[in-house]
Amino acid sequence: MIDRQAVLAGIAAPINRYNYKMSHDFSDWQPLEDAAALLLQGKPVNKADYNPAFWPLIKMMRLIMEKSETSSWSWSDPDVLAVFQEVSEGAVYTLFAETIVDIVTGIIASADIGTLVEVGTGSGTVSAAICRAMRNNSITDIPLVISDQSPMIRQTADRLRGAYPEMTIADIVWDVRTGAHEYFSRNIKRPVLVFERFCMPYAGYGAIDAIAGIADILILVDDLNITGEMASFDRMYERIGAQFLVFEEARKRLEKRFSLVHVCDRDIIKMVNSPVTSFTLAIK
Ligand SMILES: C[S@@+](CC[C@H](N)C(=O)[O-])C[C@H]1O[C@@H](n2cnc3c(N)ncnc32)[C@H](O)[C@@H]1O
Repeated sequence: MIDRQAVLAGIAAPINRYNYKMSHDFSDWQPLEDAAALLLQGKPVNKADYNPAFWPLIKMMRLIMEKSETSSWSWSDPDVLAVFQEVSEGAVYTLFAETIVDIVTGIIASADIGTLVEVGTGSGTVSAAICRAMRNNSITDIPLVISDQSPMIRQTADRLRGAYPEMTIADIVWDVRTGAHEYFSRNIKRPVLVFERFCMPYAGYGAIDAIAGIADILILVDDLNITGEMASFDRMYERIGAQFLVFEEARKRLEKRFSLVHVCDRDIIKMVNSPVTSFTLAIK
């Protein structure tokens, strides 16, 4: 039985920090939405007119426009990897990464976790930050399993194992649309804490069922719409196969498998009138 109160206590300080940063640094997302609308209409966007924090995101949208006109999108494409790296290192994604790292380490510190699993790891920006935080907190006895549909996960894992030899880091090629991975039938110590960032829009709602098969605690970092209305930003990402995800549908699916579904950023989304929630926690 998971101690819910301990888990909720573990996320309190990280969410307070996130709320503070969101309300001070990124309270106005409208310019980014306007940039998406202009790019979709084929109009020029001058990045100098925007908050520098949005520049990598504007660059990514330009790349989406360019690639989706000429070829199919691949997360393993070197151009995509290079721009996504810039996005990952930019202020917006850094805030999301810092928050998920703080949430994961907060939960580890207050609840007894047996295994950590990341879904859709990609180039491993979040996993590397989690390894760093675990090392700094002298937590090296919880194994980390990173996973992605792309076989490039092996390179990401090799890099992490090289940098954090004191940790146990496994990697698996796992397309979450195919259901549970057989790795977890043998190699798992419960409770299992699963986290993912920005993978579900590509994997779809079905990922929830596959992940729920192994997760005792789950943290989703995805923009889940709460208004039901698609924005230009959503239409932009639809061009590369991202699905428009609605919180209500995700909640229904989560509630079938978890006893608690918690919108971590509820206070800030009301305060800044955001159309999406970005941090969802579910506990069995
Ligand atoms: C936007 S990137 C995010 C990468 C990483 N989570 C981060 O935040 O830096 C999306 C990642 O999800 C992975 N992905 C997409 N669909 C997937 C699926 N069905 N199963 C597993 N991984 C998937 C992609 O290969 C890619 O690495």
